[in-house]
Amino acid sequence: MGYLGSQSRSQLKKENGHHKIVLFPFPLQGHINSMLQLASILHSQGFNICIVHTQYNSPNPRNFPHFTFNSFPDGLLETEYVSESDLLAFIARLNISCTVPFRDCLQKVLCDDSEDPVACLITDGVWYFSQVVADELKIPRIVLRSTSISSISAFSALSALSEKGCLPIKDSELDKAVPEVPPLKMKDLPVVHTKNPEDLQQILANMGRETRASSGLICNSSEELEGTKLAKARQAIPIPIFVIGPFHKYFIASSSSLLAQDMSSISWLNKQKPKSVIYVSLGSIASINAAKFLEIALGLVNSEQPFLWVVRPGSICGLHWLEHLPSSFLEMLNGRGHIVKWAPQQEVLAHQAIGGFWTHCGWNSTMESICEGVPMICMPSFGDQKVNARYVSDFWRVGLHLEDKLERGEIERTIRRLMADPAGEAIRDRAVSLKDKVDQCFKEGGSSYRSLYSLTGYLSSLSDSAFRG
Ligand code: UDX
Repeated sequence: MGYLGSQSRSQLKKENGHHKIVLFPFPLQGHINSMLQLASILHSQGFNICIVHTQYNSPNPRNFPHFTFNSFPDGLLETEYVSESDLLAFIARLNISCTVPFRDCLQKVLCDDSEDPVACLITDGVWYFSQVVADELKIPRIVLRSTSISSISAFSALSALSEKGCLPIKDSELDKAVPEVPPLKMKDLPVVHTKNPEDLQQILANMGRETRASSGLICNSSEELEGTKLAKARQAIPIPIFVIGPFHKYFIASSSSLLAQDMSSISWLNKQKPKSVIYVSLGSIASINAAKFLEIALGLVNSEQPFLWVVRPGSICGLHWLEHLPSSFLEMLNGRGHIVKWAPQQEVLAHQAIGGFWTHCGWNSTMESICEGVPMICMPSFGDQKVNARYVSDFWRVGLHLEDKLERGEIERTIRRLMADPAGEAIRDRAVSLKDKVDQCFKEGGSSYRSLYSLTGYLSSLSDSAFRG
């Protein structure tokens, strides 16, 4: 941390203390990281923190000794755990099965006389059911969206595009521009694989309606990154909006990692030359088939660039881990590559040996890369990742988009262009300039600095009304 101004927590606690905030993360890695980072930011501002969470993918309380944790049974069966193949069914299912146990759990927290009164509930935007519970228990709800503001706009545009008959996307229109949400093309629209296509419209409608009914919206982004889109979002969503990110610049996410981070990543990086290594990771949900996995492996080897590759167990369809790689693969590497199951990503991206990030463009990964000035190779899989990828390649112009060409020769050329060739120099320079620009938002008077100040004032005013009750 180091971006939170000069007042100590004890000074801030005098101003904001005895104000308790309940936070309710959605149980997926990218969402948990941003909610727990937000909790740490608010704790540093003097608020008392209570985390209410599902039993599935529960955070580790030992890593947050200053918070209280309350879990409730979510009713999920093992066969219903998240998979890329039907993320929407998982979201819809949890919004139904959690309603009663969440309300009971929250009610217990609210009735606990030994604790400070609860001023406000902050939930992930994906928990659309929680607005009705908050209304019933008469507690203000604030929404956290852990995706980019641009993807919130793109999700909102989907229903109008569907009414105009543009969806499902026709193969002949994939490269057509979408005037409603520049610079996106039809193929960048944030569609999500699902057995029931109407689920997406329903979930988006629920999220939009319940966000507009809430007392405020917190976004993990910054005006320096998404100023134009933010101005439009303020018109479209008439509630207070606080854009205070990127959150990980205040508190890193290692303490909320659901998987053990392999620290050999750092000892291996320590032996590599500055800016020589391409880091490869496709996040916590995305998966690929065995043929694509092999193309990636051969593209990496043929590029002759050192690489650190995260292969998450279960992320290659039908395989456990590396068994599809030819036995000669690791020998061919001759120490030039290192493969782990999960890495300490933020430390990796901050390491001087890293020169590029081949990413699925999840919003956390995208911002973590931008904040370290690391240029990207974009290989989005679903949903908001496609929007983020287009912004990286065509708007901020700090990366190259693979555009579905997952073939070893193309991979080899793309890595070389990003990392070494003069043709990639402008991209590498822009990545450094964008990092410098985003750094400004945390300085005194910067956009996120000011917005965090407004947010703490707003939360305290909600608390004061709750106490007057
Ligand atoms: C999901 C969706 O895929 C994404 O589109 C949405 O924006 C957020 O939720 P996920 O796949 O988890 O995200 O990606 P991302 O948002 O990038 O979050 C992954 C987090 O895991 C990052 O904070 C990253 O630092 C961390 N991580 C990733 C590790 O700690 N180690 C790793 O090896 C890989």
